[in-house]
Amino acid sequence: MVDLSAANKIFLTPPEFMLSVARLEQLPPDDLNEVAFAGRSNVGKSSLINALFGRKDVAKTSATPGRTQQLNYFCVQKKLYMVDLPGYGYAKAPTAEVKRWQDVLKTYLRGRANLRRVFLLIDSRTGLKKADEDILKLLDESAVPYQIVLTKTDKVSKAAAENLIKDIALKLKNHAAAHTEILATSAEKKLGLDEVRSEISAFV
Ligand code: GTP
Ligand code: MG
Repeated sequence: MVDLSAANKIFLTPPEFMLSVARLEQLPPDDLNEVAFAGRSNVGKSSLINALFGRKDVAKTSATPGRTQQLNYFCVQKKLYMVDLPGYGYAKAPTAEVKRWQDVLKTYLRGRANLRRVFLLIDSRTGLKKADEDILKLLDESAVPYQIVLTKTDKVSKAAAENLIKDIALKLKNHAAAHTEILATSAEKKLGLDEVRSEISAFV
């Protein structure tokens, strides 16, 4: 039984912004549990982090894909690192730059010892794309636990969201490191946030 009220407590105060990591040498020590938000550019990673804390200004969001180009580290109550990752896939930035941050992202996802869970965000309107499948494979191979979180459910019907969840659940059967429960959220309409909060609070 999940205690939502206890889970919510750590989200009452905004997390402390720690640093933006552009190169892997800059990663903070792996002394605390860590969770990260991954997903294609523009899927809503930064928006979801803001919504979890009931604020608009924790993580920078943008309508332009590729806004987050570094690994942005936040610390929750000095107990947990929360990482807003750059998106993968399409980004409106110079190709060489995109390649550099994608390489950093992939190496990070493969090799971070204290990474307890990756929340892999999928846009409810588009579902799993090739770029997502590639990341799923990478996470499976590196045995990094991950959980799928649908975003922007306010943009689709309830039936469409449910179908997508069934669809993805079927595909996940072949993925070893996947957490079986798929969460559905809308940062815009503040839906499904307590479920994400309680998953995260388990690592605090
Ligand atoms: P990158 O950092 O570029 O990879 O993007 P991101 O995944 O951090 O996305 P971001 O949070 O910046 O949001 C991208 C766009 O989607 C913005 O215009 C947001 O307002 C919009 N958006 C995010 N979440 C939602 C949602 O739940 N519903 C709707 N309708 N729009 C959303
Ligand atoms: Mg972002």
